Amino acid sequence: MEVSKRILFYRISDDSILMINTLTGAMDIITSQIYHSLLEYNPSGYIQIDEVTLNRLKKRGYLIDKASEVKLLQTIDAMYAKAEKRLSFVICPTYSCNLRCTYCFEGGLTHDNRLYMDSKDVVRVFAAIDKLRQVYNKRKSSVDLFGGEPMLPRNKGFVSELLREARGRSLPVSIVTNGIHIEQFTGLLSAYKDQIKLVQITLDGPKDVHDKRRKFANNKGTFGKVCSSISTLLELQIKVVVRVNVDLQNVDSIDQLFNHMVTSGWVGNPYFTCDLSPVQDHALKGTYKFILPEDMLIERIFESLKRIPDSSNVLQLNMFRTLRHIKSVLSNSRSVQPLLYYCEANNLENMVFGPDGYIYACTECMGNEELAIGKFRPRLKMHDEAVKMWDGRSILTVNKCRECDIALLCGGGCAYSALTVNGDINEPVCNRTRETIFAYLDYVRDDLIKKTYA
Ligand SMILES: C[S@@+](CC[C@H](N)C(=O)[O-])C[C@H]1O[C@@H](n2cnc3c(N)ncnc32)[C@H](O)[C@@H]1O
Ligand code: SF4
Ligand code: SF4
Repeated sequence: MEVSKRILFYRISDDSILMINTLTGAMDIITSQIYHSLLEYNPSGYIQIDEVTLNRLKKRGYLIDKASEVKLLQTIDAMYAKAEKRLSFVICPTYSCNLRCTYCFEGGLTHDNRLYMDSKDVVRVFAAIDKLRQVYNKRKSSVDLFGGEPMLPRNKGFVSELLREARGRSLPVSIVTNGIHIEQFTGLLSAYKDQIKLVQITLDGPKDVHDKRRKFANNKGTFGKVCSSISTLLELQIKVVVRVNVDLQNVDSIDQLFNHMVTSGWVGNPYFTCDLSPVQDHALKGTYKFILPEDMLIERIFESLKRIPDSSNVLQLNMFRTLRHIKSVLSNSRSVQPLLYYCEANNLENMVFGPDGYIYACTECMGNEELAIGKFRPRLKMHDEAVKMWDGRSILTVNKCRECDIALLCGGGCAYSALTVNGDINEPVCNRTRETIFAYLDYVRDDLIKKTYA
């Protein structure tokens, strides 16, 4: 037996340490003395832990033999293999966009006004979708409209045909839009209301803050348009997810934005939800100056949230991937599994169709044909080697992650980041995951103490 590699230790007071077993989900408080004994644990030497505690530590998987740990990991792997996988067909009618958001990861790609999908592409895209659904026939499929900006007036015909084809196949459709032209799509959206799962619109703060970030090419802000689109969709009883991309520039105004959501009558509407999401720079370009590392961002977000205690059920943190599992462990709900995979791209659960005719595993790869996993124009052809590279990347296939104590909370990091930063999908970029988890634990520390001593 040895001390499990999968334990996260967190000091909650001078004499007590919280121990989280990321493999089993067990969580216990130990004294400093036991903690030090565990650090010095040597099964063939003198063990300074009493028999009862020792047995409990074994039972809860803190002391474990190598074979049992491997078996447990295999069980989780098998659970993942059995779990229903999804297949999202992410369709980008164009990379072009009417806005110039300051932090957009697509950068210059959105300034290119040449590529738009047309009616022939609807036929090609759905022919490819039909084939891929046969190949991955056990998966639940859906369609995501993405871009660039998908809801541009000139895309109306395309969007209408796409919705018709999706309805013909009973595929739910999600729409990711900047929300500028929703008024011009209301007839269409109403007609396909049963088919539309949700519309995601980004709103980054109160007017003065949002307008600095999400603006037209002429620098004019978009706050008014975006807010009226959100209200319109809610009136149509279409589910709206408001996404707030958070960084140094807007983190301190989350409370003002929340108050705006309340006065607009959105909070409490059953069709309204809101996700806070970190602004990311997965390629580590370093060109956008307001990005905060996630651990610092979490600290600042929680400071803001303290000023609006009523917001905790409204402003969700699900886009902070590395916190999902630990949050579910701490709340004693085991609904979120340990993370074997960082994101959907690693199970080929996203197939991104670009207006350039290529298919990508991840939206961040769009426009870079060297990173394509296939093409749908003139007809479907997958690149087998590329498919193999993305599919199944997990903490069990990446050497560094296999040995990492927080692997099951991290999932092995962003594959696109590994590719662009290190040139190898199997050379992970750790992205301060450990610090982010500890920043979160700092915030919930008082609750943890209360819960553990209750
Ligand atoms: C690139 S946009 C394309 C769709 C549409 N134009 C829109 O803005 O929703 C897709 C999503 O990425 C988000 N996004 C853009 N740049 C980002 C970044 N650097 N970090 C995190 N999210 C980003 C947007 O807020 C949006 O939710
Ligand atoms: S609206 Fe979307 S695609 Fe356009 S610049 Fe903003 S985030 Fe990028
Ligand atoms: S990416 Fe880094 S932190 Fe995450 S599991 Fe791999 S080695 Fe650990």
